Amino acid sequence: MTVKHPLDPLKEEEIKLAVDILKADKRYDKTSTFSSAILVEPEKTVVQDFNEGSSFPRNVKLLGIDSNQDGGFCAEIDILAKKFVSLERLPGNEQVPYAMGDFATAMMLTKENAEYQEALKKRGITDLELVQIDPWPGGGFTHESIKSGHRAFKCISFLKESLEDNAYARPIQGVIAWVDLTLGEVVHVEDHGVIPMPTEHARYDAGSQSNLREGLKPIDINQPEGSSFEVDGYQISWQGWKFRISIHDVQGLVLHQLSLHDRPILYRAALSDMVVPYGDSDPMHSWKHVFDGSEYSLGRFINSLTLGCDCLGEIYYFDINQISWDGEVNKIEQAICLHEEDYGIQWKHIDGQGGAKEVRRSRRLVISSMFTVGNYDYGFFWYLYLDGTIQMEVKLTGIMGISAITDETYNPSQAPKVAKNIAAPLHQHLFCFRLDWELDGGNNQLFESEIELLPINGNNPNGTQFQSISRHLKRESEAKRDVAPQSSRIWKVVNPNKENSLGIPVAYKLMPGATPKLLSHPDSVVSKRAAFAKHNLWASPYVLEEQGAAGSYTVMHEGQSGIEVYTSKDRDISECDLVMWHTFGLNHVPRPEDWPVMPVEYCGFHLIPVGFFDKNPTLDIPPSCDKKNKS
Ligand code: CO
Repeated sequence: MTVKHPLDPLKEEEIKLAVDILKADKRYDKTSTFSSAILVEPEKTVVQDFNEGSSFPRNVKLLGIDSNQDGGFCAEIDILAKKFVSLERLPGNEQVPYAMGDFATAMMLTKENAEYQEALKKRGITDLELVQIDPWPGGGFTHESIKSGHRAFKCISFLKESLEDNAYARPIQGVIAWVDLTLGEVVHVEDHGVIPMPTEHARYDAGSQSNLREGLKPIDINQPEGSSFEVDGYQISWQGWKFRISIHDVQGLVLHQLSLHDRPILYRAALSDMVVPYGDSDPMHSWKHVFDGSEYSLGRFINSLTLGCDCLGEIYYFDINQISWDGEVNKIEQAICLHEEDYGIQWKHIDGQGGAKEVRRSRRLVISSMFTVGNYDYGFFWYLYLDGTIQMEVKLTGIMGISAITDETYNPSQAPKVAKNIAAPLHQHLFCFRLDWELDGGNNQLFESEIELLPINGNNPNGTQFQSISRHLKRESEAKRDVAPQSSRIWKVVNPNKENSLGIPVAYKLMPGATPKLLSHPDSVVSKRAAFAKHNLWASPYVLEEQGAAGSYTVMHEGQSGIEVYTSKDRDISECDLVMWHTFGLNHVPRPEDWPVMPVEYCGFHLIPVGFFDKNPTLDIPPSCDKKNKS
């Protein structure tokens, strides 16, 4: 069991050993089911000072629930010393993430419940095998009969025509089962009245289409000399870029120690958390605001990718290991995809006066994973470019949440019609990325820059002048900022102690997209629990424990932790080990074209060098002209 680097993902044997050590302890409860096994990343200094051959810790956090009526267990195990480091019991309002064991229990309890079966009978549904139950997090909106601190789900359901059918075509409208997982009971069934079942299917498989289009000839991506990147374990090198990757159970795809030409840029970059709040008044949706990260453990829904289908070209895949609900290990093969893509023109100029005519091609390195959480699918794509640009692109696809409607219940402003007798409620997808900077080594500063019009006066008689202004954000309270695309607002991370040859301190800017922020009322439960989405930017000094944008454990959470709480201390960030939190996403106003499965929609951000180099760093790309191309 050789682990080469302190940030290497957990090996199968390491997870097994950690589980064995836990099971051998007298405090282990035989009813335990697991939600996650997470590598405890060592202190920054251990990682930064690591040399081949130096020793490093391998500690694993095992999370799960058992017969204790609290928030579950969090056991830290030192697998090198084969001993327990700590065993923490979480409180009822800060529970371990939901896991397969919880889903299975909620589905079973709901189907067995007489009141639920009665509601189904009213709708002519008797074959429970064809009923699909979708449990949703109960945090924030729980029924009065669920005791505070109890683990809860709200279950909605759908009816299939056959076992292979897409159940989302037929919502069992108006029926909601409240499940108290701690008690192991359905405590309440809501029935808002019978709405007729939509009659059309929503199958998206090729065999269910009436015809398949013709005329798409193959596009063959061919790299005759192989790819230009190198892989050593979980470290990747490409065109001066060097970094490590891993999958975190909650955060999904993580970039570690990203550097360019041996100049550090980011110590760590990953999703911290995300929330999907619904804006509809329909009781099937009005309470929904799932944290796909910290409540559902996004990383655990990672896809095993298929060569030639998910990924085209010269692909390198990474496998990862995850704990299963019963403490066994699941190997997810081909979980992370690495490849290069041609990206059009990097730069070009024709000197019309007889000088050089030059063009260079751009390409990017793509590191990606896909995650399927219930009805929705998310792709997280990091792109690294030859000119120093870093991009995060989230791809949103899959199936929307929907309601069955009649002409009388149809409310197009909150839930547009997407198919016959089917409406999809407006909702948001908001992602919070935590960017732990180490720009050119050492401490960093944060600036906000934007364009400002100058007043008409003697110097600006025509009112045509504008200028770029920068403001140093020195405290956490000053760094709660929102996007302003009309003034080209960006946020710049500066290393004040490193200058380029022009005497300009080196910097990278975060260029946000034209993104929304949280829409819910400031006094709402959603705003309290998902406070990270109230602003597009937050910043804080690095603290090891401050990783979760909504808190570390958010199941049944009341909003008592997270980035708003961390930054309430209003700490000095004028020059520090800077952590930036960027919330972005989109407002989803459903269209018929999004049904039955959504064409990919995109959102994300760019990190772009500003004076990090002395000039265009891509002048040294050799000209290329592929003679095999046809015209
Ligand atoms: Co959506």
